Amino acid sequence: MIAERSRITVFDTTLRDGEQSPGCSMNQQEKVRLAQQLDRLGVDVIEAGFPIASDGDFEAVKTIAAMVRRPVIAGLARACRPDIERAWEALKDAAHPRIHVFLATSDIHLQYKLRISRDQCLEQARDAVAYAKSLCHDVEFSPEDATRTDPEFLCQVLEAVVEAGATTVNIPDTVGYTIPSEFSDLIMTIRQRVKGIENVTISAHCHNDLGMAVANALAAVAAGARQVECTINGIGERAGNASLEEIVMAIRTRQDRYPYETGVVGEQIFAASQMLSEITGVAVQPNKAIIGRNAFAHEAGIHQDGILKNPLTYEIMTPRSVGVPDSKLVLGKHSGRHALGIRCEQLGYEFDRRALDDIYRRFVRLADKIKHVEDHHLLELIRDTHKPAGSATPLIEPLPGAKAAGGDTAEPEPPKPFSLPPSSNAFGLPLPVHPDPHHEQSQQEDYLWGV
Ligand code: KIV
Ligand code: ZN
Repeated sequence: MIAERSRITVFDTTLRDGEQSPGCSMNQQEKVRLAQQLDRLGVDVIEAGFPIASDGDFEAVKTIAAMVRRPVIAGLARACRPDIERAWEALKDAAHPRIHVFLATSDIHLQYKLRISRDQCLEQARDAVAYAKSLCHDVEFSPEDATRTDPEFLCQVLEAVVEAGATTVNIPDTVGYTIPSEFSDLIMTIRQRVKGIENVTISAHCHNDLGMAVANALAAVAAGARQVECTINGIGERAGNASLEEIVMAIRTRQDRYPYETGVVGEQIFAASQMLSEITGVAVQPNKAIIGRNAFAHEAGIHQDGILKNPLTYEIMTPRSVGVPDSKLVLGKHSGRHALGIRCEQLGYEFDRRALDDIYRRFVRLADKIKHVEDHHLLELIRDTHKPAGSATPLIEPLPGAKAAGGDTAEPEPPKPFSLPPSSNAFGLPLPVHPDPHHEQSQQEDYLWGV
């Protein structure tokens, strides 16, 4: 019998915590467009904004609440009446509204920012949640800076807000300070010590200051959290929030370790990422996991050769599973003949081995000069290699010893890549006998030439 997998609620805060990051602000129309894409993406909760923060934020939350009907729509509020009233005003027409109340609980924040005592904090949190609950049945409470809060006091506050009606308690690592083992222990402590915790959802909200937001969120899930708060492309305050696409794909790819499921439609991830970049003008770093330009690009010859033989060799998920059209073989100086030959074929040119060698050597010289050889470069190079002598300016100078225009210097044989006999490998060990000796040699050459 297959054990049932726990469902993880995906709470997207791109429009609230994400939007707070420098250069990522969006206007109302842009927020609505993105909210509609988040709906297609299948997130469970959209935190649409912080209604008291500005009229624009209020209107955006209100409009999203009216237009996007499947997911829960959340609005943020500080633990005070005016904020909660304003949030409710924006949310009340949503099909599934949620008021998200937060109050800092760490001594650092209580002493220097809020200037209140622990007792005052406890009372304010309880009253705020009770008031939010009188308006909306779905109430989330976040003890800001939870990971730097005395765990004893944190549990006291959580118990009070659960009693006051909170349905989700979110544990924010506001400053991205925690590490996976510590965060996991904290979630377990909360589960053991807070009365009534079994009746509410525990959530994790991780920031990436030490680059551990996703690892921390996953550690929390493994320890019993059933909601993760995250953003598209990992945008957010400072180093950002836990990235939605990384959490979701880690769960999907490592079912052996994370036997959970989410409602996210993987094939919509790339579109969401692209839309966010297009709206904010903030580009995704090329090597960003899952959705960066290079996430499915292969340049090294050995890798390209492996990918062409079977993508399983170097890809742990398919590009299509996250909505990326196909993996990309980038032609650069590390590429091998296998990939070059395939690209030539895709461009309509099929070469025998000798002709491909010829093009390959010119290609490597070109790739040494320009980082990436695009299709138009390759076409020009093919034309140069096969043009009648002296007919056009070549893209690169002819190879040393290559037949000069009008000259009669014969091109030397390409260097033999192996000094060992084909019956042994590079370590001198015997190779299995292949019925086609040419195949054997070309396989090895592909391997070495690609390096
Ligand atoms: O990082 C944080 O503490 C927050 C809270 C408002 C949840 O964003
Ligand atoms: Zn945050």
